[in-house]
Amino acid sequence: MGFPIRRMRRLRGMAPVRRMVAETRVHADDLIQPLFVCPGRGVARPVSSMPGQSQLSIDLIVRECREIRDLGIPAVILFGIPEKKDPLGSEAYSDDGIVQRAMRAIKVEVPDLCLIADVCLCEYTSHGHCGEIDGERVKNDETLVLLARSAVSLARSGADIVAPSAMMDGQVAAIRRGLDEAGLASTPILAYAAKYASAFYGPFRDAAESAPAFGDRRGYQMDPPNRREALAEIALDIEEGADLVMVKPALAYLDIIREARDRFEVPIAAYNVSGEYAMIKAAAANGWIREDAVVREVLTAIRRAGADLILTYFAKEYAKRL
Ligand code: PBG
Repeated sequence: MGFPIRRMRRLRGMAPVRRMVAETRVHADDLIQPLFVCPGRGVARPVSSMPGQSQLSIDLIVRECREIRDLGIPAVILFGIPEKKDPLGSEAYSDDGIVQRAMRAIKVEVPDLCLIADVCLCEYTSHGHCGEIDGERVKNDETLVLLARSAVSLARSGADIVAPSAMMDGQVAAIRRGLDEAGLASTPILAYAAKYASAFYGPFRDAAESAPAFGDRRGYQMDPPNRREALAEIALDIEEGADLVMVKPALAYLDIIREARDRFEVPIAAYNVSGEYAMIKAAAANGWIREDAVVREVLTAIRRAGADLILTYFAKEYAKRL
């Protein structure tokens, strides 16, 4: 049935009707706000490549978490800037680590906010790689032990969900076993399953001070041309016990999000990463785009592609405008 019987424009004429027939919505419930926690008191150190984002000391993170909770955002994901780094990233699995301490403090003041802990070593190692190294190579199986120890320490300190992002083979199974043995069988795992070696992580590495001191992460993160491999990574992580899986970055990988949504039954998260945030902020600061409209369009597109959850630095600002 075509023109003139069918006129597609009929349902576009009036804003309330457009709202009624909108197929995709982005609700505060769909969003997760990433936060960077650093040592000190009263410290708010702006991240220059991510306007609007700061490294915050524990006292200020607690305040920030209260605001985020009050906006209806269900969860934050925490990244730590440790006091000191060493080759084995020991602050990642110390019960006195910066994220562990932050989570204990947040749990006291904002107990109803879901705390997600990123489980990786790159913020804590002196060389900035995501695991233990041997020369220039990141050792896989040795790193699994440290990741599992880190997940247990984080869960004991208040993490409601742990999110392994090191892209080591077997990391989900190792963490699941570690949690179960520690009596933490109820702690879910959000696996960074299809995490690409992306140039869009640049600003995050300023924010988390986690740029690798040599080489890059292509030996463990995925190669951008690959799609089948992403599905294999996701299938493996689900087999190993992932409760939720993530595709990262989001915008250049919407096809992967869609395939993952169609093929698997677990909730799919997408990480709208630092470089995606920085591009929008930069263009908006120049007056080249309208930030609120672009953010809405981008988040809607990520949901339309099939993401159930979006990790985004825009979470708080977006929820404020709802
Ligand atoms: C830790 C980690 C990274 C990001 C999230 N977890 C950095 C990396 O892999 O280099 C990037 C997030 C972003 O760019 O917003 N491995």
